[in-house]
Amino acid sequence: MSNIALPFRRYTITSALPYANGPLHIGHLAGAYIPGDIFVRFLRLNDKDVVYVCGSDEHGAAITIKAKKEKTTPKAIIDKYHSQIKESFEQFGISFDIYHRTSEKIHHELSQEFFLNLYEKGEFIEQLSEQYYDEEFHQFLADRYIVGTCPNCKNEGAYGDQCEKCGTSLNPTDLINPISTLSGKPPVLRETKHWYLPLDKYQPWLEKWLLEGKKDTLKPNVYGQCRSWLKSGLQPRSMTRDLDWGVDVPLDEAVGKKLYVWLDAPIGYISATKQWALDTGNDWELYWKKQPDVADDACLIHFIGKDNIVFHCITFPSILHAHGEYILPENVPANEFLNLEGDKLSTSRNHAVWLHEYLDEFPGKQDELRYVLTSILPETSDSEFTWKDFQARVNNELVAIFGNFINRVLVLSHNYFDGKVMPAANLTDTDRFIFSELERYPKDIAGSISQYRFREALAQFMNVARLGNKYLADAEPWKLIKTDEERVKTILNVSLQIAANLAVMAQPFLPHTAERLFSMLNLDARDWENAGRETLLPEGHQLGEVQLLFEKITDEQVDAQLAKLSKAKEANEKAAKAIAKGNISFEDFIKLDIRVGKILTAEKVAKTKKLLKLTIDTGIDRRTVVSGIAAFFNPEEIVGRQVSILINLEPREIKGIVSQGMILMAEDADGRLDFVSPGSEVSPGSEIR
Ligand code: MF3
Ligand code: ZN
Repeated sequence: MSNIALPFRRYTITSALPYANGPLHIGHLAGAYIPGDIFVRFLRLNDKDVVYVCGSDEHGAAITIKAKKEKTTPKAIIDKYHSQIKESFEQFGISFDIYHRTSEKIHHELSQEFFLNLYEKGEFIEQLSEQYYDEEFHQFLADRYIVGTCPNCKNEGAYGDQCEKCGTSLNPTDLINPISTLSGKPPVLRETKHWYLPLDKYQPWLEKWLLEGKKDTLKPNVYGQCRSWLKSGLQPRSMTRDLDWGVDVPLDEAVGKKLYVWLDAPIGYISATKQWALDTGNDWELYWKKQPDVADDACLIHFIGKDNIVFHCITFPSILHAHGEYILPENVPANEFLNLEGDKLSTSRNHAVWLHEYLDEFPGKQDELRYVLTSILPETSDSEFTWKDFQARVNNELVAIFGNFINRVLVLSHNYFDGKVMPAANLTDTDRFIFSELERYPKDIAGSISQYRFREALAQFMNVARLGNKYLADAEPWKLIKTDEERVKTILNVSLQIAANLAVMAQPFLPHTAERLFSMLNLDARDWENAGRETLLPEGHQLGEVQLLFEKITDEQVDAQLAKLSKAKEANEKAAKAIAKGNISFEDFIKLDIRVGKILTAEKVAKTKKLLKLTIDTGIDRRTVVSGIAAFFNPEEIVGRQVSILINLEPREIKGIVSQGMILMAEDADGRLDFVSPGSEVSPGSEIR
């Protein structure tokens, strides 16, 4: 089939390198991996020369912050999550040619080579500038080490390099009310030298290449974001960082500095391709470098989520352009976000469907998840996954339509004709209509896929299954078999041709199911060009054994998943309470002057229910303290007790009484109070530290 929509011979396809700081969840899959995998499988079926690369993104603050949280080293973090992610992808069936990692030597070397190439061309602006610095942690605060309010959309949780809410790329000094994520304090400014990529200089070129050149090919959500950034004017962007984890800046005067993670990570696509080429005896340059004959250039396509658009449409292309020898992305089909059960997916809040857990809990059901996620891909706007919807789509579509049709055709063929394909004779108008539909669908599906409309493509695929299901139900061969066996032969032939076409067309979407179907049909006609043929299964062909394609998802399975999510939510709320206060420094702590004091007198404060007026011997003096403990203690009971008292709290007037300090109380989750007292009598004025 000559495919006008896919004019290139060679394709370099990438899916965003996931940070090796946590497991994969369905949001990742719906953003960059399922679309990439469908596209790549489709290209391979069309005999294109494809390399599909991915790997772990192992640098940047995402990793070091996670290591700090888990009280371990960055190396331990990346090793743990790299293997977990790699294994999940494999089991799920994302068909990368290589899943590499950015901690490999080959990647560090290539990243440094890129930096030096641009450095020697004089592309970078070297600049001393004042950068935010955390004096307590002795560290400059780049990227995720600093948060504040986004100047563009006023989101209060914007990072130093990007606001994830509106997608704007930022510098730390753009943030309003910046706060260090290390100490939780406002940072100070300190001077440091960095190397900046002059994005402002590339702006005219970007406008031409991107805004003019890709007006008709970029998805509207991608194009719109790019246009608005270019409209607000690009600024130089630092390509180096004061961090201790990452690729070393290859300059003598930059010892201790690292490359910006968004410089090295996309180069990871190239280093992964290099490694793949070494492993398989291919030439990596064919997939990345401009060829002497332009017609021989590869077509580069990046599959990503929407928070990555600026880096793939502006920064990385500028770097490739400045370097000069590399091809540029043909397209960047970014997806929007997927939500889960009415709420944003969140790794930190554990509000997610984790891929490794799904694979454990639903063994052999990779395609069910692929099917549902593909049906709801956030291609043009955010979308939502719910377990009820998952169940409904599997049961009402995969089981009731696709699975049911396949099962019926095969069982009937085995029952009536020993699993042999019978001839189709005397075609009716309906039969002819079916064959013409079979011819049309592969073209329509190809058209949708080549325009990155995977939901639409899958819906058309399901229409073919629907067509088969209806054809068979209407024809009722189980009734006809008693009176018109010849007609039944034709009906089953037509039905089997539909089944065979479904096997071919299922491959990009439901690869595991397609394999089972090929084996049930005893067929090996995988190329896409076979789709549309009405004699895919020749007369006399012997079919294979019948297996069940899909099973229903039970209410119990759904309930178990929902229970898991609410448990995570509860645990999260509890944990949030438990660690509600941020860290303070020792210097802050020792500012508190807490002493053991003795209650000398106690009386109710008139016209209040909660307050007692106490006189305390602090060892230094006697003072009056008003305390809200009347609901728990009678005044006469507590005279003579030793208690803890914060004596350097600023005096406060309460109900006309000046309170000079605060009695420390232990309060449990139900709000019950008790004194914090020494285990045995100590002298008043003893310091509590
Ligand atoms: N690790 C990044 C993220 O998860 C994506 C990196 S994509 C690459 O958002 F281009 F840098 F590789
Ligand atoms: Zn914003």
